[in-house]
Amino acid sequence: MTQCISCNHSIEPFISFGKQPLGNGFLSKPQFKSEYFFELEVCFCQSCSLVQLANQPKPEQMFNDAYSFFSGTSTKMAQHFERFADDIASRYLKPHDPFVVELGSNDGIMLQHFAKRKIRHLGFEPSANVAAVAQSKGINTRCSFFNQKHASHAASEFGHADAILAANVMCHIPYLHSVMEGMTALLKPTGIIAFEDPYLGDIVTKISYDQIYDEHVSLFSATSVKNLFEHHGMELIDTIPQPTHGGSMRYVIAPKGTRKVASSVTETLAREVANGLGSLKTFTRFKKSVEQSRADLKQLLNTFRKDHKRVVGYAATSKSTTVINYCSLTPDLIEFISDTTPIKQGKFSPGMHIPVLSYERFKENYPDFALLFGWNHQQEIFEKEKEYRSQGGQWVVYVPRVEIIG
Ligand code: SAH
Ligand code: TMP
Ligand code: ZN
Repeated sequence: MTQCISCNHSIEPFISFGKQPLGNGFLSKPQFKSEYFFELEVCFCQSCSLVQLANQPKPEQMFNDAYSFFSGTSTKMAQHFERFADDIASRYLKPHDPFVVELGSNDGIMLQHFAKRKIRHLGFEPSANVAAVAQSKGINTRCSFFNQKHASHAASEFGHADAILAANVMCHIPYLHSVMEGMTALLKPTGIIAFEDPYLGDIVTKISYDQIYDEHVSLFSATSVKNLFEHHGMELIDTIPQPTHGGSMRYVIAPKGTRKVASSVTETLAREVANGLGSLKTFTRFKKSVEQSRADLKQLLNTFRKDHKRVVGYAATSKSTTVINYCSLTPDLIEFISDTTPIKQGKFSPGMHIPVLSYERFKENYPDFALLFGWNHQQEIFEKEKEYRSQGGQWVVYVPRVEIIG
């Protein structure tokens, strides 16, 4: 039995998605033969409530100079990060020479708002290609993984931070205690940590099992976050739900006893108990719902094939890799996936090798059905694609249930 990455207790597996490729491992034909697969199995820790993967590929295998996720591809996310930065600046930064650090700063989507205000900042971004985009915009970015060693170096070089921020990256990191020690070493005694990630509560209620893929080693809840930080003398002081990525939670944390704990924390923790997020039974039920979702989606796509309908995937998201491979969605069910990210275009989807083509290919010849792999950007995409619908195009979504939206 494997051990919890947060508290070391033994953990219980509750679902396996079988052999899966890298979520962002879009590849070209010559790479098919050497494609990497690993068993995607999910476990629950009864001691600290952290839901986590049993195994994860090495960080360098996922985050390198060919990383294919560029944060700036979504305009709604760009607006979200502007608000995130404004909120931190107005609530937590003192006027005199504040210093902000971000983990997983990617192309600078959030730090640019601090840079614009001439606030001292530093991003840790190990994927060289996305880090280079940030650097070219004048955003101070260190191309390295955040860990205890690099954080201590940064503290001696730049001083201590008023705020340490992270979005959609804490859930990527298996060596949590090295990160905790790094944050503790780098944070001012009066500073705060704010991070957000897809929220376990939403994943369970929406059966959004596609949030489970190689990069997401942890699926956090307020309970598991509280337990993790308590080990390091920190306190959860606020929990703020976010609509992003199909339902996320922002956690605000401070050295214990330094700040008032918002009432939201007690409320969120109580809701998690009531919703069974601390109970293995909830996750065995979740497994059944996931299996049902797979059966429904396969049945629908098989019917379309029988009726000779054209089906195209919309947005080659990393999340879609789990759905495509778990449901065995082969290229005879999905003609291609349309995506706006240049480095994905002309490649093939991980595992099932569905062609990924430019967005123009979707616009040029609308399919009968578009399978919405980017369901977390549904509002933005539906606003953009009014014409597709007006010409009779229909959407297929699978979160929270498999259905056709005409
Ligand atoms: N914060 C951005 C990017 C999220 S993707 C957003 O929300 O859109 C996760 C990013 O974290 C990737 O760019 C990846 O390279 C980076 N990353 C992965 N492990 C990391 C680590 N240990 N320290 C810092 N960044 C890391
Ligand atoms: P995400 O779900 O991890 O944020 O990934 C978003 C992916 O979806 C990225 O590859 C870009 C793509 N995308 C489109 O192709 N069209 C769109 O309108 C949006 C919002 C995203
Ligand atoms: Zn644990």
